[in-house]
Amino acid sequence: MSKKLNNDTLKALSEKGLNTDVFMEGIQSAKPLTYWDYIQPEALINLQVQRTDLPDEMVFIVYHQINELLFKMILWEIEQVAFRKDLKAKFFSERLGRISGYFDMLCSSFRIMKDGMELKQYMKFRKTLAPASGFQSAQYRMIEFASTDLINLIDYRFRKTINRNTPFKHAFEHLYWQAAGKNHETGEKTTMINLFEKKYLNVFIDFMKKYNNKNLWCIFENLPTKEKNNVELLNSMRHFDHTVNVKWVMEHYNTASKYLDGAQKAEKATGGSDWKKYMHPKYQKRTFFPKLWTSDEIKNWGEQNLEGYKILSNFKELEI
Ligand code: HEM
Repeated sequence: MSKKLNNDTLKALSEKGLNTDVFMEGIQSAKPLTYWDYIQPEALINLQVQRTDLPDEMVFIVYHQINELLFKMILWEIEQVAFRKDLKAKFFSERLGRISGYFDMLCSSFRIMKDGMELKQYMKFRKTLAPASGFQSAQYRMIEFASTDLINLIDYRFRKTINRNTPFKHAFEHLYWQAAGKNHETGEKTTMINLFEKKYLNVFIDFMKKYNNKNLWCIFENLPTKEKNNVELLNSMRHFDHTVNVKWVMEHYNTASKYLDGAQKAEKATGGSDWKKYMHPKYQKRTFFPKLWTSDEIKNWGEQNLEGYKILSNFKELEI
């Protein structure tokens, strides 16, 4: 280490409030860092607990865990945008690019779920999983809360009765996904959703509050006009919305169809929902940024080619 660097380093450490003598002595005694201490591969590869001895159940568990790690990275990036001081379109757009990249990975890799397991094995081990469902992924719900205003996640039937002054708990009860957690005959909540809420309700309410004015849509709306009119950012917003709410949803739907329709008799979802109606984007037409799509695009939501949304060259194309 050069003398200059040495002095600068000591000064920087001291400015951090560290006792530099103790700190430098500590470094001399510390063990050298290794890959396994830092990345923790042993912990990671021992996190899989099968319910059966069927080999393809391992594929199912690991793939879900990979999804959860990517969800974590997505939430991480959203937070960088949401709480950035003096946010610029360039930073916003770049981070959305990263997030969409992660979702693109989730879309293309869904093949692992679709072709990576034998139907016969899946049909056996899935019976040991009820009433659990991917529906109970808390991070997926957090991505939704952090991406858009709550009103865009409310079941269409109740939107008129809910606004920004509605208590969070009330809004929560009317989220679109509540419909998948009801027993359609009795109207009662299913065990799947009751367990989900018991574990996460308070976490969700806190998270909803945290992102109430900081979700990606709010942040976009409140950008200074010059930044907001950036066409690259507009296209990044559209790409993200389409990738999550059409492309990923359709990959998921197609995989679910392969297994649940592929069985000798059509199977029910482990979570118990009327899954086809619930899941296909053409029914609920869920979007994080409805104002960034034309009325025709919304009309055809989920019907168009999976890659097929238009790259805009300016805002005028949006009819707003
Ligand atoms: C063989 C593979 C899969 C099948 C058959 C399947 C099936 C289903 C079904 C039927 C539902 C509707 C809720 C219910 O269970 O009643 C659902 C919801 C859900 N699944 Fe999957 N799934 C699969 C893989 C995955 C993976 C890899 C993930 C990633 C974490 C995932 C995440 C979700 C999420 C987030 C929901 C809720 C979606 C929403 O509310 O719109 N699923 N899944």
